[in-house]
Amino acid sequence: MLNWEDLKAACLGCTNCILCKTRTNVVFGVGPQDAEVMFVGEGPGENEDLQGEPFVGAAGKFLDEMLSIIDLGRHNCYITNIVKCRPPHNRDPLNIEQDACIRFLRAQTKLIQPKIIVCLGRIAAGRLIREDFRITREHGQWTQRSGIYFTALYHPSALLRDESKRPETFQDLKSLQAKVREICTHTLP
Ligand code: URA
Repeated sequence: MLNWEDLKAACLGCTNCILCKTRTNVVFGVGPQDAEVMFVGEGPGENEDLQGEPFVGAAGKFLDEMLSIIDLGRHNCYITNIVKCRPPHNRDPLNIEQDACIRFLRAQTKLIQPKIIVCLGRIAAGRLIREDFRITREHGQWTQRSGIYFTALYHPSALLRDESKRPETFQDLKSLQAKVREICTHTLP
């Protein structure tokens, strides 16, 4: 298994799919390497591509607000994406791009060994929980695999567009907080 530095170097130099041709920066991920909770979005947008950090645009600000409701944030969670380079015009990452990139997320997961993985939106849930995952019906539900608890929230961009989804997400965040309290040892005070 790669160590953290080698993994990051391999990711920053990756040319395994076409997204490398249009990226400004690879967006590897941020947060403590011993995080117990990991959030996974779909892929960098314009601001993330420019700054090399996940969720720093409007959706990212909203994500920060969501997390702060339950005392989570960049200091006590790891945040990354399914694909590490921006898909042009923010289109959904293609399966071939996800396939080329997923080994980095798998390696990050092996190194971090999170207790909880929270998928942000349909693309991440479809990749990490179940291919036919229905975000509208199944957000907030929990499944366990290989000793890790998985759940999905609506993507922050969807919540910015559609305020009617926010009350359900508040309940999902409360459920996440309860799970963190139940199984995590050093995330919440
Ligand atoms: N949307 C995502 O899915 N990821 C980011 O990093 C930013 C926006």
